[in-house]
Amino acid sequence: SLPCDLYAAAGTPCVAAHSLVRALYASYDGPLYRVQRASDGATKDIGLLATGGYAAAAAQDAFCSGTTCVITEIYDQSARHNDLTVEGAGGAGAADVGAPADALPVTAGGHQVYGLEISAGMGYRDDSTSGVATNGAAEGMYMVTSGTHVNGACCFDYGNAETNNKDTGNGHMDAINFATECWFSPCYGQGPWVQADLENGLFQSDAGHSRNTSDTGTGPLPFVTALLKNNGQDHFALKYGNAQSGGLTTTYSGGEPTAGGYSPMHQEGAIVLGTGGDNSNGSIGSFYEGVMTAGIPTDAADNAVQADVVSVGYGAATGSTGTLNPGSEISLRATTSCCTADYVRHQKNAGVLSSVTSAGSGLNKNDATWIVRRGLADSSCLSFESRNYPGDFLRHSDFKLYRQPMDGTALFRADATFCPQTGRSGTGTSFASYNYPARYLRHYDYNLYIASDGGSEDFDSTTSWTDDVSWAVSPPWAP
Ligand code: AHR
Repeated sequence: SLPCDLYAAAGTPCVAAHSLVRALYASYDGPLYRVQRASDGATKDIGLLATGGYAAAAAQDAFCSGTTCVITEIYDQSARHNDLTVEGAGGAGAADVGAPADALPVTAGGHQVYGLEISAGMGYRDDSTSGVATNGAAEGMYMVTSGTHVNGACCFDYGNAETNNKDTGNGHMDAINFATECWFSPCYGQGPWVQADLENGLFQSDAGHSRNTSDTGTGPLPFVTALLKNNGQDHFALKYGNAQSGGLTTTYSGGEPTAGGYSPMHQEGAIVLGTGGDNSNGSIGSFYEGVMTAGIPTDAADNAVQADVVSVGYGAATGSTGTLNPGSEISLRATTSCCTADYVRHQKNAGVLSSVTSAGSGLNKNDATWIVRRGLADSSCLSFESRNYPGDFLRHSDFKLYRQPMDGTALFRADATFCPQTGRSGTGTSFASYNYPARYLRHYDYNLYIASDGGSEDFDSTTSWTDDVSWAVSPPWAP
C-alpha cells in the first residue's frame, strides 16, 4: 500500500496527493507533472513507468534535450484534481515562476527521478480546490523535503492557505513550514524546523512564540519527512523523521496558538507549495512528495506512511561508481606529488582540496563525494552534484569553485558544466570549464579554481599547472 492507500484505510483519505517522484496510490497511473520547454514552448506530461510506480524521468530528459524545461503543473493524484499551477501574484509577492525541471536529480525506488527545487520567486498553488478542509475542519498532511536546501526567508510551505493569495488573518492557513526561519524567538538549535504556518506565525508550539526547547531541528538531513495535523478546533501536532530510515518524532502535540483567531481555525482550503499564504516568496526548499487528508490521521497511519517513505530508498546516485558515467558516484583525487591523498571537497559552501582518509569522519567522506550528472549546459560534458546536498552542484563564480543549489539560469548551468579530456599532464582526467574552455578545474593552495596555464591571477600560475589540473577519478568516499 502507498501513502494514500494507507490513509484511506485509516478513514482519513487523501484530498490532495502531489509528487514528482512516484505514485501515491497503488492504483494511480496518471500523470505526475507537466514540463514546458524553452525552445518552442511545447509542454509534456510526465507520467509513471508503471501503475503505482515511479516517474518516467527519461521521457523528460528526452523532451528537454538541448533546451531547458520548467515545471508548470503538479497534478493531484487524488480524485479531487487539486492540481497545482505556478502561483500568481499575492499580497506580498509578484507572480512566481516555475522551477527548473532538472534541478534536483535523485534516485527513488532505484530509478533516477527529479524532485522540485524551489528558489526565491518560485511557488505553486491551487486557489479553487475540492475536499480540502475549511473553517475549522480537521486535516493532516506530510511532505518529503530536504534539510540541506533551506533558508530563513518567508515561507517554504505545503498545505492549506488563503484562496485570494493574501494574508486574511490568524488561522486562515494550516500548512507545514520547513525552514531555518525562526518567527518567534527564541528557537532552539540550528533548525531547520518543522513548523505550522497558521498565518501570521510559524509555530513550533502553542506558546504564541516557539518556546519549544525540545525541538532543535533536523539539521542538514538530505531527506526529511515533515508532518502536521490539526483538528481545526483546539489541537495540532508536528512530527518529523529521516525519510531514509527510522520512524517519526513528535515535536509538539497540544493546543492551538493562544493568540486570537486560531481556535477554532479558519482555513480557506487553497493549497500552497513553496511560498507563504500571501505569496511571500523569498524562501527556498525541496519537495519530493506530499499529501493532505480529510480528517486527522491516526498515529498508526502516520507510522505506516513513514515506513513506506523509507521503503522508497530516497537517495543519491544510480549505477556504477568510480566512473564518469552519469549517475556514478566518484571522488576526485589530486595527482600533484604534494597532494595525492587529497580530494575535491566542499566545505562551508566552497570547493577546497582536502585530505580524506578511511579513518576520517563520515562528513569528510560525504563532502568529498560527487554524483556525475549530464552537463547542465551541454549533455556531452558533465556536472557534479553534491552527494550530501541534493540539488547543489559544483560551480565556479569569479573563477573560484563553490557548492551551490542549481537555480536553473543559463549562467549557473554554464558555470557548473565541465568537459572531461585526457589529463593535461598525461595522467588521469582534466576538466575544462564549459564557458571558459581554456580554464580547467585546478587546485591551488588547497583551494579550487578554474585556472588557465599562465595568467594574471595567482591561481593561473604555470608552476605545476598540468599536474594541478589532472585528476584521478576514484571510487566514492561516501559509503
Ligand atoms: O504565517 C507566516 C506568513 O505570514 C504567512 O505565510 C504569510 O501569509 C504571512 O506573511
